[in-house]
Amino acid sequence: MNNASNIVFVALITMVFSSALFGQDGSRETVLITGSNRGIGFELVRAFQEEGWNVIATTRNPDTSEELNAFAESHDNVFVERLDVTSVSDLSQLSEKYMGVSIDIIINNAGIYGDRALQEWGSLDSALFHQVMAVNVLAPMLIAETFIENVRASNHKKIISITSGAGSVSIENVSNGGIFYSVSKTALNMAIRKLASEPDNAEILFGLVAPGLTETDMLRAARPELLSRAHSPEESARGIFDVVTNLDSNYDGSPLNYDGSKINW
Ligand SMILES: NC(=O)c1ccc[n+]([C@@H]2O[C@H](COP(=O)([O-])OP(=O)(O)OC[C@H]3O[C@@H](n4cnc5c(N)ncnc54)[C@H](OP(=O)(O)O)[C@@H]3O)[C@@H](O)[C@H]2O)c1
Repeated sequence: MNNASNIVFVALITMVFSSALFGQDGSRETVLITGSNRGIGFELVRAFQEEGWNVIATTRNPDTSEELNAFAESHDNVFVERLDVTSVSDLSQLSEKYMGVSIDIIINNAGIYGDRALQEWGSLDSALFHQVMAVNVLAPMLIAETFIENVRASNHKKIISITSGAGSVSIENVSNGGIFYSVSKTALNMAIRKLASEPDNAEILFGLVAPGLTETDMLRAARPELLSRAHSPEESARGIFDVVTNLDSNYDGSPLNYDGSKINW
C-alpha cells in the first residue's frame, strides 16, 4: 500500500471504530479529559460538550461521580469512563476499549496538591512526594504514551497537560510552601518538552496550559488565602477551551495561561 492509500485506510478504520463506540456521533471531534468529575475538569467537560464534541470524561470513581453522571445522562456526547491516572490496569482497560478510535485532544487535567503541612521545610514527607509526582508528572506521560496512536489518527493531534504558574522557575514568590506541588509542575513542564522532542512525536502538538488561580476544592484546601484573587472554574475552562482549540503549528511549546498569554519557564 502506498502512503496515500495507507492514510485513507487508517482514516476509514478509525471512522468504523469511532462510529461503533459513539454511534451517530462517530464523526464528531473527540476529547479525553482526566479528573473530570469536579473542579476545572468538570467544567472542561461542559465546555467541550456545549461545542458539540464527543467527550470521554474520565474519573477515578464513576460510582460516586454523581454530577458528572447526571450530566452524561442528559447529553449523548458525554461518555464517563473509569481512570485512576496512577493505575496501570485502568489505563490498559481504557486503551483496549478505545483501540482504533481517534481522539483529537487529550487533556491531562487530574492533579493533586497534597497536604500542605507534609511538604513544608522541616517536615517533608517522602510518601506524599511520590504520590504527587505519580499523579502530576508520571501519569500525563503514561497517558500520552498509551493513547498516542488514537491521537495520531485524529485531526487535531493534541496532547495538553494542565500546568501551573507555581511550576515556573523564573517567577519569584509565586508560591510560598507547597514545595512538592511546585516541583511536580516544573517536572511536568520538562516531561512534556521531552515527549514533544521525540522524533516519533513530530506531528503531535504537546501543550502546557495553566488555568490561573481558580476557585476549586484544590485551592480551597491548599491555598485558601488566595481565594479572593481566584476566578471561577467555568472561566478557566472556557479560556482553556479557546487556547487549546486554537493552538497551531506556530506554538513553541511554552506554558500558556488560560487567557493565552505566555508563562515564563
Ligand atoms: N485551582 C487552581 O487554582 C489551579 C491552579 C493551577 C493549576 N491547577 C491545576 O488544574 C488541574 C485541576 O485542578 P482543580 O483545581 O480542578 O482541582 P480539584 O478540584 O482538586 O480536582 C482535581 C481532580 O483531579 C482528580 N484526581 C486526583 N487524583 C487522581 C487520580 N489518581 N486519578 C484520577 N483523577 C484524579 C480528582 O478526582 P477525585 O474527585 O477522585 O479526587 C479531581 O477530579 C490540576 O492539574 C491542578 O494542578 C489548578
